[in-house]
Amino acid sequence: PFKENTVIVVFGASGDLARKKTFPALFGLFREGYLSDTTRIIGYARTKMTVEEFHSRIKEHFDIRDGSQDLVGRFLDMCTYESAQYDQPEGYKKLTVGIEEFEASRCVDRPHRLFYLALPPAVFIPVAERVRKYCHPGKNGVARLIVEKPFGRDLATARELQEKLAPLWKEDELFRIDHYLGKEMVKNLIPLRFANSFLHACWNNQYISSIQIEFKEPFGTEGRGGYFDNIGIIRDVIQNHLLQVLTLLAMERPISGDAESIRNEKVHLLRAIKPLNKENVLVGQYARSEDGKKPGYLDDKTVQPGSKCITYAALTLEICNERWESVPVILRAGKALNEGKVEIRVQFKETKNGIFSHVSRNELVIRVQPNEAMYMKMNTKIPGVSNRMVVSDLDLTYSQRYNKFYIPQAYESLIRDALNDNHSNFVRDDELDISWSLFTPLLEYLEGPDGPDPVPYPYGSRGPPQLNDYLAKNGYVYQG
Ligand code: BG6
Repeated sequence: PFKENTVIVVFGASGDLARKKTFPALFGLFREGYLSDTTRIIGYARTKMTVEEFHSRIKEHFDIRDGSQDLVGRFLDMCTYESAQYDQPEGYKKLTVGIEEFEASRCVDRPHRLFYLALPPAVFIPVAERVRKYCHPGKNGVARLIVEKPFGRDLATARELQEKLAPLWKEDELFRIDHYLGKEMVKNLIPLRFANSFLHACWNNQYISSIQIEFKEPFGTEGRGGYFDNIGIIRDVIQNHLLQVLTLLAMERPISGDAESIRNEKVHLLRAIKPLNKENVLVGQYARSEDGKKPGYLDDKTVQPGSKCITYAALTLEICNERWESVPVILRAGKALNEGKVEIRVQFKETKNGIFSHVSRNELVIRVQPNEAMYMKMNTKIPGVSNRMVVSDLDLTYSQRYNKFYIPQAYESLIRDALNDNHSNFVRDDELDISWSLFTPLLEYLEGPDGPDPVPYPYGSRGPPQLNDYLAKNGYVYQG
């Protein structure tokens, strides 16, 4: 069941994020029947444009499926647009007049308003402040604020942001998006972990030898260099997305399925991670492709000449608790690689016994994207008269097993959660604080005068040539 007469305001409605993610996700929810047509969606941005121009802009990225063409018009009828400034009260006041008129026309006695900030960091606090002041319905209704990364660029800036935000918006009114938490296979981690007793029994250092979480993208910064150059792959992907995935993969069982119990366990896990070993990090920057067709990072006109920005990093964490002590956790991420893939790889210890001279290790692979899948590498006898063994996959590939199901976009799942006031898949303030505490010393070292020069790797390759040695040194056994 969905809420009726909800008002959703998207700030930054003319920007890329809103166009490519937020509005397509709202349309996806509507198409799938998860958003009532009594919802009022208001785009708010500085750009002057007519409602028609706004509509044609936001529908560019809609996923229009068979039979859903007529839903586009119905959805667009729910969407209006306001052009106003971010730093002056007038726009917000006018916005609230419009919202109140809408609510009055529908006889809403308890307003439900969702404010989505698809905005650059510089205007984030000014907007949050003014929305609180001019658009919050007060005790008579419900207001929620959805915010997007970056949440600071280190511990100090993240805390500063939090100190400004906390007096305005209570933690339970806030939804901090890490869109990886909305991905189907990431949402599947809790069921996988806590609803399967066979896995539960071996999910520890007695059986597991290493964990890897890997993020690969087949393209470089391509025009986004100006943004990326200040950020680097660790802040962009590892400190948030990959660390969040790890918390769900490795946390203890929450005492119940509610958001606070889950987030408490994520925090416990984060607290158990040892300070990162700065010496044990492999960093790289992509160079021109071997065939010369793809540019190197430094060829991007939007980056600083001679920039040492890291576009590839592999690092190893240690979790200091009874379950995970001595199991290395390798997080690695890179741009401009040979493929686009996000995968979790849990490698089990070798089985030693007197029957076989050699058996391969079991490995559980959870492919987050593309082509969602989960498979376990198993040793089995080759069928037939021979007794030889082979490694086969116990394979759950979603496109085969669940081909009739619609797998939502991460943003669809998350906006739906926010509409239902479910905070499980959003980052709490303490999670954010600990994750920055972990990564800030490493970033300071890497970006400081003693930091290593990133190793060049060709665009389209697997990453820095030292990668295999790095993985072997840190406990991953390559099995061919
Ligand atoms: C974003 C990063 O958070 O995640 C991007 O800023 C990256 O640089 C993106 O490309 C990856 O998301 P996805 O959903 O495409 O894996």
